[in-house]
Amino acid sequence: MTILLTGGAGFIGANFIYFELKNHPEDRIVCLDALTYAGNLTTLAEALKNPNFAFYKVNICDRPAVYEIFEKEQPDAVVNFAAESHVDRSIETPEIFLQTNILGTQVMMDACRRYGTKRYHQVSTDEVYGDLPLDRPELFFTEETPIHTSSPYSASKASADLLVGAYCRTFGLPATISRCSNNYGPYHFPEKLIPLMIANALNDKPLPVYGKGENVRDWLYVEDHCRAIDLILRKGTVGEVYNVGGHNEMRNIDIVKLICRKLGKPESLITFVADRKGHDMRYAIDPSKIHRELGWLPETKFADGLDRTIDWYLTHRDWWETILSGEYRNYYEKMYGNRETLG
Ligand code: NAD
Ligand code: TYD
Repeated sequence: MTILLTGGAGFIGANFIYFELKNHPEDRIVCLDALTYAGNLTTLAEALKNPNFAFYKVNICDRPAVYEIFEKEQPDAVVNFAAESHVDRSIETPEIFLQTNILGTQVMMDACRRYGTKRYHQVSTDEVYGDLPLDRPELFFTEETPIHTSSPYSASKASADLLVGAYCRTFGLPATISRCSNNYGPYHFPEKLIPLMIANALNDKPLPVYGKGENVRDWLYVEDHCRAIDLILRKGTVGEVYNVGGHNEMRNIDIVKLICRKLGKPESLITFVADRKGHDMRYAIDPSKIHRELGWLPETKFADGLDRTIDWYLTHRDWWETILSGEYRNYYEKMYGNRETLG
């Protein structure tokens, strides 16, 4: 079959492309990506050598351009990864989040309706459920947890999810949604916690921890997420939402200390800085539905996944140093240059 995916020059989309080319060499993979600051074509250099892979530089909000690709490629399935994905940026400039994450999703679903695509999958996030308190460790997000968002990013993703549900019910769009916890692994853009801390530590730069670093995230190795999406796409039930997570909760400060230890860097690099506005305290996924219905379980333990990730950043310095030497530098200066240091 032909799978058309969006946002494949970004972190999870690129990992998904390599996962599919390896595990389903019979399928054709078509990637559509606008190559925003977060998209990097060098990430896809190996894929571009594969005759079963095609790339189009297109914005998912550009309806005529999207329709043209559907007309030409006639995809059997669509996976929508493309999004503005960074919470801190959504606090600075919300509008682009609403455009890409909501209206872009609508364009992709309209294209599926128009061309009779047999399957549409929306890659969503556990952030649509808001957050959980630190003193109630027995609580987890299930698929029934009410949507309750905190940031413009999560609000835009939740809006897209609601629109997917509406298209499913009103137009019979054969859609599924996955809501995953925080991913980590190769090709993760160095503005997110784990790659930012690895890159800064390797450059002996301060490690900016927001607030007291007590916020908890549920970390999943990116390949496990890709396997979950692949399973949902091929075996999931239309109209269903699947939570994906690894039961691997970690406090930010503990992750940063672990990275220091693994890289042999002093904890004195850690700098506590002003907290993120509206900062979610804890995310924790209950993945029992996808386990029960599709047999999915995470395969990579956090210690192994973090070792693999650190190794990757050590052996792919060019990849992230090129990013850090480019336009991203202006962003870093803006976000951290005047950020109050708390100790
Ligand atoms: P990313 O920021 O690394 O990559 C996003 C990609 O989308 C980039 O290649 C970018 O060029 C492309 N893109 C952005 N706007 C576009 C547009 N208008 N048209 C076409 N392409 C566009 O993001 P990621 O971390 O790989 O996340 C992928 C998806 O997974 C997102 O939908 C995100 O909400 C979701 N998600 C991410 C995580 C995580 O931990 N990173 C967890 C759960 C869900
Ligand atoms: P992030 O990787 O941005 O993912 P998300 O906000 O989507 O969970 O951040 C993960 C956690 O790390 C979050 O609690 C914010 C925190 N954080 C820092 O403490 N310092 C940083 O420089 C960054 C980027 C994040």
